[in-house]
Amino acid sequence: MFRNLFIPIIFTSLAILFSACQENNTVEFDPSYDIIPLPAQMEKQEGFFTISTDTKIVTATDNEALASLAGYLKEAIKTSYSLDLEVSGNPAENSIILGISENELNSEGYILEVKTNGINLSSKEPAGVFRGIQSILQLMPKDKPYVSNVTITDEPRFPYRGMHLDVGRHMFPVEFIKEYIDYLAKYKYNTFHWHLTEDQGWRIEIKKYPKLQEVAAYRNETLVGHYSNQPQTYDGQRYGGFYTQEEVKEIVAYATERHITVIPEIELPGHARAALAAYPELSCDGQPVEVATKWGVFEEVYCPTERTFEFLENVFIEVLELFPSKYIHIGGDECPKTAWKKSKYCQDLILEQGLKDEHELQSYFIQRIEKFLNSKGRSIIGWDEILEGGLAPNATVMSWRGMQGGIDAANMGHDVVMTPTSHCYFDYYQSDDPNEPVAIGGYLPLEMVYTFEPMPEDIAPDKKHHILGAQGNVWTEYLKTPESVEYMILPRMLALAEVNWTPVDKRNYDDFTKRLEPHILGFQEAGVNTANHMFDVKSTITSGKGEGVGVQLITDSPSPTIRYTLDGNAVDGNSDAYSQDIAIENSGTLKAAAFKEDQQVGRGLEIDFNIHKAAGKKITLVHSPAEKYSSGGHGAIINGVMGSDSRYGDKEWLGFEGEDCIATIDLGEAQEINSLQFKFYNGQGQWIYPPKKVEVFTSDDGDSFTKAGELAEINAEGKICNVQLDLEAINSQYLKIHIHRHGTIEEGKQGAGHDAWLFVDEIVIE
Ligand code: ACM
Repeated sequence: MFRNLFIPIIFTSLAILFSACQENNTVEFDPSYDIIPLPAQMEKQEGFFTISTDTKIVTATDNEALASLAGYLKEAIKTSYSLDLEVSGNPAENSIILGISENELNSEGYILEVKTNGINLSSKEPAGVFRGIQSILQLMPKDKPYVSNVTITDEPRFPYRGMHLDVGRHMFPVEFIKEYIDYLAKYKYNTFHWHLTEDQGWRIEIKKYPKLQEVAAYRNETLVGHYSNQPQTYDGQRYGGFYTQEEVKEIVAYATERHITVIPEIELPGHARAALAAYPELSCDGQPVEVATKWGVFEEVYCPTERTFEFLENVFIEVLELFPSKYIHIGGDECPKTAWKKSKYCQDLILEQGLKDEHELQSYFIQRIEKFLNSKGRSIIGWDEILEGGLAPNATVMSWRGMQGGIDAANMGHDVVMTPTSHCYFDYYQSDDPNEPVAIGGYLPLEMVYTFEPMPEDIAPDKKHHILGAQGNVWTEYLKTPESVEYMILPRMLALAEVNWTPVDKRNYDDFTKRLEPHILGFQEAGVNTANHMFDVKSTITSGKGEGVGVQLITDSPSPTIRYTLDGNAVDGNSDAYSQDIAIENSGTLKAAAFKEDQQVGRGLEIDFNIHKAAGKKITLVHSPAEKYSSGGHGAIINGVMGSDSRYGDKEWLGFEGEDCIATIDLGEAQEINSLQFKFYNGQGQWIYPPKKVEVFTSDDGDSFTKAGELAEINAEGKICNVQLDLEAINSQYLKIHIHRHGTIEEGKQGAGHDAWLFVDEIVIE
């Protein structure tokens, strides 16, 4: 059966190779069509076009936009292939024609025809021609100036395709910002959301307020390591800087040439500590503060006084001069209300304006700013907290805490950009390898980005057009260098590019990973610090059904062979090849790695199993953990494997929000139980607290339970909280374990007023 399928495939690819050789006589070229994002429609054809020194780029040179596009293409070909093509206004043979013409596609759509004797690219708008140029460049192998013959009719699925970059926590040279914009251009993004002001630094020159440059742009030192590390230590190094207005103009022009809009973000009313360090009179108590030296959310926020509005309006007047974007991002997220609650001025203002509370006061604040920006012909965009207390009339919402804010806003008739932490936060870990560079937390592997669906199911059909698209966010608390940013965005931003661009029925992760391989190789050869987890062996551990512990192994790219050992020996090209689930019956270490022709590729995997009395047994939970923090299944807490000590986002942890963890474990038969060991996460910066108490009950019939013991006063020092409950050789088949969550986070702490998260790892029963 295989043979029959195989012959035509070989035959077809040989035929292409052969005809390519015939037409160009001396060259061999294996055509490539590894375009990311995948075009909406692509018809591959035999043969290819050869770009030579005689090839001309033909366009209407008196059209400024087209001339600029021709110049861009000329430079790209010169840089990569050392061919300096002539740009001409006259039709010619052997040319790449860039034109504007009517079609049924949207404004960034394009039609590209590559034939052996030339290329024709057209669009309704210059932006579409630019997107088409990216497809031409991606059709070319890196070392040969050939373009595979093809007909492409393509257009984006969503009109807003964004990437964000926080330069407040760490800033990056202008050259890197341009490199970042180049990645956006290559993968057909059209928006760069530039997060310019933060508690830890103000990064844009505002000439009217020199102290923003002298004071707000610098912090005295920076937190070392992860926020949750205890005790917290600092590096003692002054850090900072800002982008001059000339640099900002240069970056905006660079992006504009690439048909990318730059949206500046000036955060208000929160995340404003750097500005308040420069101008404390803009806060409610006027007390001096320093530019923040650690991460998190701070209580020092702008006070809604006339003096503050005057300051912000003056700031925006300069910002608007620099950024021609329709949207101005005004932040709006994570604004503690403590200072406003204490302020007589704010309380009087609440009464005077007939507002209900501080949330409505925030809404008043945002609406004042919106009115001002609307009067200048601009629209505001803000994080989804701007929904609280009433949404400003013309605001667009960036939904980050999930999809719901976006759904609510769209149902109210507002435009929405989807950027939920679950799929769009590129500051999260992308691998559960313990050697990953320190990141803020969370877990967002490539496939999860790829499977993101920005269009919510439960949205009225007549509101769907309000979902403008998706954006990847890059917060830089833990990203100090350009290389570290490269690592977090590549290749995840390629997956998001396809989410935003490609028709949903054409998206296929296996096909994507095949096309991705040459892109990753290209980055590596260019010295770009891309992540590459495609050949890393990943595991899915099954447990919790009473059928023992099993392991499935997989790599993102289906091409290599996975080999493994269970006896502690290193894996090599002779180790057993993986073909089906591995049953883990004894404690020990599973080692696995992927091989291509006996050469290991990608990172190997090692999992230590402790097959204790509950491992692989049946577990039932009264309340389900949060979907995004239960990817390992409910059995993850009795699968014999410990989760990471440094983060809670891997598959071994279960995260509960607003519910206790109440588990019943059926050991299959009565067993002697001497102890239960628990592991909880303590990440107060991420609103995660250890439980208040744990109660354990036993039963012989699974119906009537008797209390066997409890742990109270669970104190945590570091990130991990290990506790043990000793029992006196109790014989029981069933155990009920009630882990009581912390409850509401106290005032003065991050996340005050919210219910604390509870994160539970392996429950070891001995
Ligand atoms: C955010 O991540 N605070 C928008």
